[in-house]
Order: sequence, then C-alpha cells, then structure tokens
Amino acid sequence: MAEEMRIVLRNYGKIDPLKIDDYIAAGGYNSLNKARGMDRMAVIDEVKKSNLRGRGGAGFNCGQKWAFAYQAASDIKYVICNADEGEPGTYKDRMIMESDPQTLLEGMAICAYAIGSNKGYIYCRGEYPEVADLLKKAIDQAKSKGVLGDFDVEVRSGAGAYVCGEETALIESIEGNRGEPRIKPPFPPVEGLWQKPSIVNNVETFANIPVILEKGAAWYASIGDPSYPGTKVLTLTGDISNKTFFEVPTSTTIKDVIFQFGGGIPGGKRFKAVQIGGTSGAFIPETDLDTPIAFDAMSKIGAVLGSGAVFVLDETRDLVDVTCRIAKFFEHESCGKCAPCREGTSRMHELMDKINAGKGSAIDITVLERLGRVMSYSCLCGLGQAAPAPVLTTIKQFRADYNAKLM
Ligand SMILES: Cc1cc2nc3c(=O)[nH]c(=O)nc-3n(C[C@H](O)[C@H](O)[C@H](O)COP(=O)(O)O)c2cc1C
Repeated sequence: MAEEMRIVLRNYGKIDPLKIDDYIAAGGYNSLNKARGMDRMAVIDEVKKSNLRGRGGAGFNCGQKWAFAYQAASDIKYVICNADEGEPGTYKDRMIMESDPQTLLEGMAICAYAIGSNKGYIYCRGEYPEVADLLKKAIDQAKSKGVLGDFDVEVRSGAGAYVCGEETALIESIEGNRGEPRIKPPFPPVEGLWQKPSIVNNVETFANIPVILEKGAAWYASIGDPSYPGTKVLTLTGDISNKTFFEVPTSTTIKDVIFQFGGGIPGGKRFKAVQIGGTSGAFIPETDLDTPIAFDAMSKIGAVLGSGAVFVLDETRDLVDVTCRIAKFFEHESCGKCAPCREGTSRMHELMDKINAGKGSAIDITVLERLGRVMSYSCLCGLGQAAPAPVLTTIKQFRADYNAKLM
C-alpha cells in the first residue's frame, strides 16, 4: 500500500527469493561485510543505539541481549532464529522468509559475528514445510557463494506445539527433548542451547539488522514511536475488509490500522473489539483506538503488541463465545509442566464453558477474575501468564456480553 514503510519487506515481490544474486544486486550482504570491518562491540553498540526491540512479543532491546552473549565467557555460542510462528492469526514471519530468506540469513550472520558464534539454527514452524525447504535452498546458495564465511546454519522443524515458540521450550526442542519451558534465570544469552550462550531472536528482528547496519542507528531510531522505533509487520484477520498484511511505522494508531489500511468493517456493520498480539492479547474497545501500535503505548492501555496479529470483531460477535474458544485453545496448548497453568487453563475453560452455555453466575465471574490474577503472576512461562488476558479484558470491557448469559 502507498502509505506503507517497508524495511523488513523491502525486497518483497522485487527479487526472486531463490536467486541469491538478486539479493546481492539489491545491496544484500553489504551490511555483513561492513560489520566484519567493525569491532564486534561497535556492531552491538550500533544495534543497541537503534533501540530495535524484539519483534517476537517480549520487546527486549536487541543490542542489549547481544551484549549479554558477547560478554559470556564461552568458545561455543549459538544464534537461533525463532520462526515457530505458532500464534493464531500471525503469518508475518512466513511473508518475510518466503519473499527474502537471504535477509534473515544476513541478519543472523551479523549477530554471529558480533557475539562470536559460528553456528546457527532456524526453528521453523512445523506447518511451514515449504518455507523450511526454501530456507534450506537459500542456505545452500549462501554457502556456495561463500557469503556466510564460517557461519553454519541449520533448519529445524517445529512439531506443532504453541509452547515451542517460547524461547527456552524451543531450545529444549532443538536439543531433542520435549518442548517445555525452563526456569529463568539463567536466560539463554548466558546459558541456552546445550548450556551455551545463545541468542534467540524473531525472524522480523533479524530482518531489521542489515538495514540498521546500512543506514545507521540514528536513522532507525527516528522512525515511528521513539520508545519502540522502526516498523511493524501486521497481519489482519476477522471482520475486516482487507484481510492482508502490511508494514507500517510503530507510531501508526490502531484506528488507522483498522480503518485506513484494513479498509474498515465489511457489510456496513459497526466495530466492536480488536484483539492484538495473538490469542493471549487483550480485547480492545473503541475508546482505545487512538493508541499507537508501539509496545509501551499498548502496555499503557493494558494491551500487548505481541506478534502483530490484528483480529477484528464486528458488533454481531458474542465475546463470551469467542473468549471461550480461546480458553479451550490454552487448555489444549498448556504443556502441563507447572501446576498453575496446567490446572488454571483447564478451570478457566470449564468456567467459560459454563457461562457460555447460560449456566454461569456472577460468582463464576469473580472466580475467573481471581484465577486469572493468580495465573498471571504464578505460571512458569508466558503462555500461562498471558492466557487470562482475553478473559480478564472481556470481563472488564465487555461485561454486557457476560451479563446477557448469566443464569
Ligand atoms: C507461549 C509462547 C509462544 C511464543 N511464540 C513465539 C513465536 O512463535 N515466535 C517468536 O519469535 N517468539 C515467540 N515467543 C517469544 C519468545 O519466547 C522470545 O521472547 C522471542 O523469540 C525473542 O525474540 P525477540 O527478542 O526477537 O522478540 C513466544 C513466547 C511464549 C511465552
């Protein structure tokens, strides 16, 4: 779209993803060469100064994370790309990898140089077999061109569990174990894959790196919202005219995302709610639509940016029914390692089912609120901590939908 700003999707549709020469002709691998002529710490400082924050959900400062791995004393370090993309409604990483796999490899190779690693893994969503094949071909091309130097990359396919996108569960999965999260700390930059310092970054995070090195930290930091600069790739689903994806500066408001880029609600219906960031995102009412899609601005309204999934619901949707389906999803996806999540997601689904069936009372809603609060601070990983968000925010913002179903 004309109003888009494309950084990570800059080559989308312009180059053949399976022709490395196309990528090189478009300036590809200049940034890696530039980085190799710099001091390792200077590369990390540049990424830090750009204030690039993780695009996988947690929003951690990328350069800071790299600095931890750089400082860790070990002769073996790993660079891992999180391409699990298990979040329902999210397909941004797929768009990046399918259109421009070399930019991901270049971003990973710059990280490898900076932290002192020569081995990388791309953990690719199991349901993306064609993407995994494409990545393997892209890696072969990069190896035969010699552009990656001594940096070796392997593709590993996920096995379909949502929790395997959580960085420590992902590491367990690469090690060949059941994908369950580890207790943190230690965090992966200090002790990750096979107990070695490891960087786990999202596809979109890595794809930003070559452009940051090319155009400089100051340029990047000046784009979008200063607290979370740059662009974000968003994927639109639900009751929205343009079910599509696009890349916009992070200062773009939710309203513009839905009504300008998304083309508004089809069928002449009114907007009711939007859930941003995937299944564990908050449901946002109309009154908060002027919020920019930047990480901190979203936190201020009790929401998350997460993976950038935007799920729109029109006035005809029953939010109790939608939230009940989400609660079922979390019950199914809980790995069961910790009791608050294993038991909490089951009880949450049970109570939502009861209310949805018209058999619930106001006391059930109070129990749901208490359960949600306990889960958010006692679950081991982000899955259980965030699972209550849709329940708690629909109770708070769309209470009428619940009241209409109480006994
Ligand atoms: C249940 C769960 C699923 C996650 N799934 C993904 C995922 O599919 N892709 C991703 O990049 N991050 C995912 N994350 C976040 C990762 O744990 C981690 O924060 C991220 O990969 C770090 O990369 P970044 O700093 O570049 O965002 C998930 C977290 C949780 C708790």
